[in-house]
Amino acid sequence: MSEFPQFPKGFYFGSATAAYQIEGGWKADGKGPSTWDTFVRKPGKIKNGDTGDVACNTYNDFQTDIDIMAEMEMNAYRFSIAWSRVVPKGKGAVNAKGLDYYSRLVDALLEKGITPFITLFHWDMPQGLYSDYRGFVGRETSGYFADYAEVVVKSLGDRVKHWITLNEPWEHAFFGYFVGEHAPGETNPWAYFKVAHHELLGHGMAVERIRSLSSDAQVGITLSQFPIYPYAETPKHQDAARFADLFMNRFYLDGLYKAQYPEALLGRLWPFRPKVRPGDMATIAQKTDFLGVNYYTRQYARHVWYLPFFRSWVDREPPPGISHPVLGSQAYPEGMCELTKRYREEYGNPVVYITENGCGDFDAVVEGDRVHDEHRVKYLQQYLTALERAIAEGADVRGYFMWTMVDNFEWSSGFSHRMGFARVDHETQARTIKDSAYWYRDLIRSQPQR
Ligand code: FCB
Repeated sequence: MSEFPQFPKGFYFGSATAAYQIEGGWKADGKGPSTWDTFVRKPGKIKNGDTGDVACNTYNDFQTDIDIMAEMEMNAYRFSIAWSRVVPKGKGAVNAKGLDYYSRLVDALLEKGITPFITLFHWDMPQGLYSDYRGFVGRETSGYFADYAEVVVKSLGDRVKHWITLNEPWEHAFFGYFVGEHAPGETNPWAYFKVAHHELLGHGMAVERIRSLSSDAQVGITLSQFPIYPYAETPKHQDAARFADLFMNRFYLDGLYKAQYPEALLGRLWPFRPKVRPGDMATIAQKTDFLGVNYYTRQYARHVWYLPFFRSWVDREPPPGISHPVLGSQAYPEGMCELTKRYREEYGNPVVYITENGCGDFDAVVEGDRVHDEHRVKYLQQYLTALERAIAEGADVRGYFMWTMVDNFEWSSGFSHRMGFARVDHETQARTIKDSAYWYRDLIRSQPQR
C-alpha cells in the first residue's frame, strides 16, 4: 500500500490560477481595463492597497512557472483568460497581441506535456461592458460572452480541448453585487439575481458556441460548493441551513441540471426574482461534459431574524467543540464525499473535476531555498485521501487542481494571503518551491499507472 492516495488511470494532477491574480501587465499591448483594475483603485477595498497591476508578472514570464510545473511532474494546468486582454472593450474589436499571449502560453504548456484547462471568465469583467450594461446585470452581456468565447476558441481550439465557461458564478454575483467586497462593488440584491441568471445564460450560450466550433471540446462550468450545516440542531437553524443551501448551491445546480430554479428559494425571495424568458432554462441546462467543483470547506448557517427575506447567514467557523483532528476547525475533507454523493444521487453523476482546493500558508517557514509548509502537506494529504474515497464510492472524478500555483493577488486580501505551491517574493518575483509541491510530485510519482 502506498502512503499516497491512488487515482484512476489518466487522472489529471494540476494547479489552478486566474488571470487577474497573476498576470500583471494591466495595460500592456492593448489590453482594456477590467472592473478589477478599477475596483482596486478605490480606497480601502484591498488590504494594504495592493493591486494586480504587476501581480506575479506572468504576462512577461510564464515560463518560470511552467518549468516548476514540469519539475513537479504535473500533467494539467487551469488558468483563465482576461476577457479585456482579448476583446479590450468586451465587445467588438479583437486585440491580436492579447490572443497571441495565450497562444504562446498554450504552446509552452503543451511542449511540457501539460494539458491546458481554460476558464473563460474568472471575474475580471471588461470595464466597457460594466459601463454599458453593469456587466452581467444586463442581459446583453450574456451574448457578448458567447462572442468572446468564439474569438478564443477559434484561436486556441485546435490545441485546447477543456473549457470552463465561468468560475464560481455565486461568488461573482454575491461578493461583486450583493455585499460589494469584490469588483464592481455594488450592494444590491436585485442586481445579484440578475447577474446570477445572466451568468448562467451566458454559460449556456457559450457552451453552444464552443460546440459549434470545436466538435471534440469538453465543456463545463466551475461552481463553488459547500456542504451546509445548521449551527445548532434547532428548527430555525435547520431552516437557515436548507435556505443557504438553496441560495449558494442548488440555485446553480438545479438551473444547470434540472432547467429550473428552486421555487422554495425564489418564492421566499419573490421581490428579487430574476426575469426568465422562454427558452432561457433550456439554454442554461444543455448538456455539458463535466462539472468543475471548487471545494474548500463546509459552512454553518444560523437563523438571523433581522435579515429581511433571507433570515439566514453562513460562516466557516463551526460551533465550539467541532474541529478536524489534524487540520483544525475550518477544514472538512469529508465534504468531498458528501458533495459527490449529492451529484451521484440527484444530478446524474456528472464527470467532476476538482478545479480548486487548497489553503493559506499557516505555519510556513522559509529556510534558505526551502519553504516548509507542513500544514499544507497535511491538508492535501487529508483532502486527497477523502477524494480517493469519494471515487471508491462511485464518484466520477477525473482530475484535481490545487489552488494555487504561485502565491498571488488574493482579491480583497491582496498579497497577504499566500496559497501557492511556490512562494513568490513580490519585490523580486523570485519563486521558491514549497515542500507541499514536492509532496505533490511524490504523490504523482506514486501513481501505479500514470
Ligand atoms: C476561489 C476563487 C479563487 C481564489 C480561491 C481562494 O473562490 O475562485 O480565485 O480566490 O477562492
